[in-house]
Amino acid sequence: MAFNRQDGYYRQAKREGKRSRATYKIEELDQRFRIFKKGQKILELGAAPGGWMEYIAKRVGGSGSVLGLDLQTITDLPSPPCQTLIADILDPETGARIDNLVTPPFDGAVSDLAPNLTGIKATDQANSIAILETALNLVMDRLVDGGFFICKVFQGNELKSFQLKLKCHFAKVTLAKPKASRKTSTEIYLVATGYDGNTKPQ
Ligand SMILES: C[S@@+](CC[C@H](N)C(=O)[O-])C[C@H]1O[C@@H](n2cnc3c(N)ncnc32)[C@H](O)[C@@H]1O
Repeated sequence: MAFNRQDGYYRQAKREGKRSRATYKIEELDQRFRIFKKGQKILELGAAPGGWMEYIAKRVGGSGSVLGLDLQTITDLPSPPCQTLIADILDPETGARIDNLVTPPFDGAVSDLAPNLTGIKATDQANSIAILETALNLVMDRLVDGGFFICKVFQGNELKSFQLKLKCHFAKVTLAKPKASRKTSTEIYLVATGYDGNTKPQ
């Protein structure tokens, strides 16, 4: 997905040596919601090619950690604080593999997961919902009380119900469309803070 269309953010990413233009999205969300702090332990789902990880690693510093999971390999990130895992979020073994690498709980989790599109609308929507639901379950089982979850969602049928679900488990849930997200894209981000660790998804 990196550098696939040559807009202003693409050129800026190239100029500044970033892995992906997506970096500017998490930077903007962080500046607006003041998310990351030194020493935090962060889980990222759908992390390749590592643009967000690079940003988060700088924010959490050497005393923190970032575990990035993706179907694809992510290379050349500073370790510590970065670790990577090649895994499919839909694989039932993935949770155990995360726990083997980094002992939960995490202070926060971020997801920029974007399912591979088949072009068949019903299939794509079903895949997208399956990925979101699985991501939420994985995160909620591993998040500290009071922790945060930021995730990409595609505007459509799934958005409203997913937003309501998050509201059952987090004190505050806000929708945000970073400037670096293309206006033509239906992607939008949900920023959920203040996790209530005593509840589970319904
Ligand atoms: C938009 S990209 C992430 C960009 C990343 N945040 C960055 O800044 O470099 C979305 C990623 O989701 C990953 N992905 C899609 N389906 C997945 C799945 N089932 N399990 C794991 N990762 C998946 C893709 O491989 C892709 O790398």
